[in-house]
Amino acid sequence: MAHVVVVGSSNTDLVVKTERFPKPGETLVGGDFFLFQGGKGANQAVAAARMGAKVTFISKVGKDLFGKQIQEGLEKEGISTRLVLEDPEKATGIALITVNKQGENTIVVAPGANASLSPSDIQAALPSLHNHAFILCQLEIPIDTITFLASYAQEENKNLILNPAPAQKLPESIYDQLFLITPNETEASLLTGMPCDSEADYPKIAQWFRDKGVRQVLLTLGEKGTYFQNSTQEYRIPAQNVTAVDTTAAGDVFNGSLAVALAEGIPWKEAIALATKAASISVTRMGAQASAPYRNELV
Ligand code: ATP
Ligand code: RIB
Repeated sequence: MAHVVVVGSSNTDLVVKTERFPKPGETLVGGDFFLFQGGKGANQAVAAARMGAKVTFISKVGKDLFGKQIQEGLEKEGISTRLVLEDPEKATGIALITVNKQGENTIVVAPGANASLSPSDIQAALPSLHNHAFILCQLEIPIDTITFLASYAQEENKNLILNPAPAQKLPESIYDQLFLITPNETEASLLTGMPCDSEADYPKIAQWFRDKGVRQVLLTLGEKGTYFQNSTQEYRIPAQNVTAVDTTAAGDVFNGSLAVALAEGIPWKEAIALATKAASISVTRMGAQASAPYRNELV
């Protein structure tokens, strides 16, 4: 069985459906309300577990009802909560999400306990990471924690996958510690300072990351699919044509599924195709973790 380590956030998602997004200062009457388990880290962990991997998940929640519900949800997915730490001082992370008629979203996150997942927490968890080759992380936890993890991955020859979401600038030193970076168009543009709007932009963006030492680059392009580049291969893989209900966590399902495929030794092109299929299913369903498909749905 493939084994993937995921380090990242856990949130409770408070979701309201709405015809359109409100303008600044405007109050809108929306539609249905949903409470979902979310957070980029937890979403990727659940997506990976549903792909059939054993998942080691490192995260932090508050000592409150939402934190307890998150831990129960993870246990139901077969993910141990031994490394889902509790911060007695802070609330569990919350995401306020609106989803419009086209399935697009806006998200505001209150990080709460996610902001206190520290390098020393990772240090304490290192014995659980030793035997595992693939580590997946995102940017909803402190950057010091990410850079600590990246240095560990480099020293111990682990394959670190960074999904640089939500977008924020990264320290230069991190790039040559990355096995794979998976920005979306906004993140790619913010990190490189270059446009990421057209087919001609994608190879240049990927080359920018590779010049800094990232071994492989995969740009996720929403309904346009993905662009992949490493030193020997380049692929442009289209998305599947589906009707989007809620695109929340499409990127998370993509990353979690891709990490599992790579940990299973599946070649790049097939691994990306599998993650593309998983993400396309997720956008046809409401919710973050709730939308992640199981492996047997990918036939
Ligand atoms: P999010 O922030 O919504 O979780 P993201 O911005 O990190 O997502 P995207 O590039 O939007 O990531 O989506 C990741 C992948 O999911 C895409 O590469 C594509 O394969 C799939 N996907 C996203 N949106 C759609 C869509 N409308 N139809 C089909 N597939 C989609
Ligand atoms: O990527 C989607 C996730 O972003 C949501 O589940 C929300 O919690 C925010 O972290």
